[in-house]
Amino acid sequence: MLMDLCELSPSYVRSIAPYQPGKPISELAREMGLEESGIVKLASNENPRGIGPRTRAAIEGAIGEVARYPDGGGFALKQALSARHAVDAASIVLGNGSNDVLELVALAFLGPGRAAVMSQHAFAVYPLATQARGARSIVVPARDYGHDLEAMARAIDEETYVLWIANPNNPTGTLAAPEALEAFLRRVPERVVVVLDEAYNEYLAPGLRADSVKWLKRHPNLVVTRTFSKAYGLAGLRVGYGLAHASVADVMNRVRQPFNVNSIGLAAAAAALDDMEFVARSYAENLQGLKQLEEGARALGLEFIPSHGNFITLRVGKAAEIFKRLLRRGVIVRPVAGYGLPEHLRVTVGTGQENERFLAALAASVKE
Ligand SMILES: Cc1ncc(COP(=O)(O)O)c(C=O)c1O
Repeated sequence: MLMDLCELSPSYVRSIAPYQPGKPISELAREMGLEESGIVKLASNENPRGIGPRTRAAIEGAIGEVARYPDGGGFALKQALSARHAVDAASIVLGNGSNDVLELVALAFLGPGRAAVMSQHAFAVYPLATQARGARSIVVPARDYGHDLEAMARAIDEETYVLWIANPNNPTGTLAAPEALEAFLRRVPERVVVVLDEAYNEYLAPGLRADSVKWLKRHPNLVVTRTFSKAYGLAGLRVGYGLAHASVADVMNRVRQPFNVNSIGLAAAAAALDDMEFVARSYAENLQGLKQLEEGARALGLEFIPSHGNFITLRVGKAAEIFKRLLRRGVIVRPVAGYGLPEHLRVTVGTGQENERFLAALAASVKE
C-alpha cells in the first residue's frame, strides 16, 4: 500500500484546518449553471469600484517588463511609502499581500515552545500562521465581538512572543479606540511583537484612525500592517506591507522570499498611493453602502454588528442554510461559522446596486 505522505509532515501542520476563501464567481456559475455576469460576489471584502486611473496606467505600463524578475528590494514602492508615512525605507517590509507580512512575523518570531495571543473571532490567518510554525495559540474571549485588550494583556505568558490585533477586525468590524491601543502597548512586555493589522484603515473616519505609525518610535516591538487589497482595489495583485523598527524589519526581510512581490503589483501599488481621489470616493461610497445594508437589515428585523470596515456581519439565524439560499439566487456572501459565529453571515459592501440585489435576495431567503 502507498504510504500516506501527509503523515510525514509535523502533527501541528497536519492539524491545520484549511483557510476557506470566498467562493469565486466562476465556481458558482459552473455549479449552478448561472451566467457569471448575473452573479454578485460580496464575499471577500474587495473594492467594488475597481482601481483608480493612475493605478490602471501603471499596470499597463509595467506589462512590458514581466519577462524580468521584479526589484526584490522594492525600491520605488518603498520610497513612496517612506514619503507617505515619514519612515525610513529600512523600516518597511513588503509582502505578497499583507497576509504574507503576517506570515513573515510568524516565521521570524514563532516556533515550537512559543505562543501567540489573539482574540476570539479575530482574522483567521492569525491562528493559521501561528500553528504552521508549531507555536501555541492563546485565544482570548471577545468582548462585544471585539478585542478585550485588558484580557489580552493578562493572557501573555512567558512563552508569548507575538500578539495579533486586527483593527478594525475582520469579520466583526469592531474597532479599538486609539487611546486604548496606546495604553495597551505601554503594558505589553517589549519581548512580545505586537502586530497591529490595519488592513481596513482607509475605511475609517479620519478621527478614528490611530497614529499607529508614530507609535513605532516609542514601541520597537510594534509591527503595523497595511494592504493595497481593500480601499486601493488591488486584491488580485497581492501587495501589502509592514512598518516596524529597523531591527524587526531586518529579521522579517531575511525570511522573506527574495521576489515575493511581483513587478506589476509593485508598480501598481506605488501609483495607487497617488490615486487619492479614488480612495476618498471609495471611503465615501463605503459609508453610504454600510448605511444601506444596515437599513436593509433593520427592515428585515435582523441584528448586525456595527462595522468600521467595508463589510458587515449580520445575524441571520440558520446561516449555513441562508448562505445556500443566497447562492441559488446568485449572491455570494461569507459564512463565518469557522470564526465561532454560526448564526452570522459577513457581507462585503458592494455598489449601491449590488447591495440592493443582496438585500432583495436576503429578504426572499429569510422568508423561504
Ligand atoms: C484583517 C485582515 N488582515 C489582513 C488581510 C489580508 O489581506 P491581503 O493579504 O490581501 O493584504 C485581510 C483580508 O481579508 C484582513 O481581513
